[in-house]
Amino acid sequence: MQFNNKIFLKLKKEKNAIIIAHNYQIPEVQDIADFVGDSLELSKISNESKASTIVFCGVRFMAETAKILSPEKTVLLPVKDAGCPMADQISKEEIIRLRKKYPDAAFVAYVNTNADVKALVDICCTSSNAIKVVNSLKENQIVFIPDRNLAHWVSLHTDKKIVSYSGFCYVHQKFKISEIIKIKREHPDAEILVHPETPPDVLKEADFVLSTSGILKHVKKSNKNKFIIGTESGLIYRLRKENPYKNFYSLGTPKICFNMKKTSINDVYNSLINNKYEIILSPEIIKNAKKPFERMVKI
Ligand code: 13P
Ligand code: SF4
Repeated sequence: MQFNNKIFLKLKKEKNAIIIAHNYQIPEVQDIADFVGDSLELSKISNESKASTIVFCGVRFMAETAKILSPEKTVLLPVKDAGCPMADQISKEEIIRLRKKYPDAAFVAYVNTNADVKALVDICCTSSNAIKVVNSLKENQIVFIPDRNLAHWVSLHTDKKIVSYSGFCYVHQKFKISEIIKIKREHPDAEILVHPETPPDVLKEADFVLSTSGILKHVKKSNKNKFIIGTESGLIYRLRKENPYKNFYSLGTPKICFNMKKTSINDVYNSLINNKYEIILSPEIIKNAKKPFERMVKI
């Protein structure tokens, strides 16, 4: 079937739906989405939208977040098994164990966690507000889950004692110091922008450490015209589309999040036609997972 914007416009109207897509989605999906953004922007948009159905093109924890914030809405994840391997690295049993080990600590969960884990922590954060969130807490000891690289980045910007979990993103972990050394030699005049999920030795050599939408905003207002991008390759499509006169290079080989690439335009169409796959969470999980989010939004 040949898809065009008209088909989606008609379907969205019939279903009172919006399509939102993460910055890492494939170009065709980004192009038919009503909004493209980072985790924080997408959860805000789905919450503020008047639509009753949200088709969330991203990974499961993001769609779950939309459901937690707007339980009255139907939230659809077009591909059932589009998960985030990092989110699956920590379980609720692990949080219960850590709570016993660190009874005085505040527990901060990166948004890349499953809903049952969020339900057991004190506050959530995203890559764009993690430092602010940690510094807002009264506790001096912080258990930061699950990403050890984001935890390290936060630890450089706080006096608090960060107990980091051992999780990581297999995509960002692939960025290597040798790649940064090589590309700096090739493009000495370019600015290096990386996501905080990259390893500490790579972060250290970057000019700016930013969330995916943070990178987009930075590029838009910068008067430079050469940028080296250290995050999942999908962001480069959006950067080029929105900044046609600027130059973008991948930091080393393009790094691909396979789960982000699972959603095709056909899946988005099926999702709208057949209401697939609806995110279902228990009222108990929604109630408890909402608290750390509301606390985050307040700061
Ligand atoms: P952002 O919140 O920066 O979009 O990051 C989400 C993510 O999964 C990064 O790998
Ligand atoms: Fe998860 Fe990494 Fe993919 Fe982001 S890029 S969704 S953290 S696996």
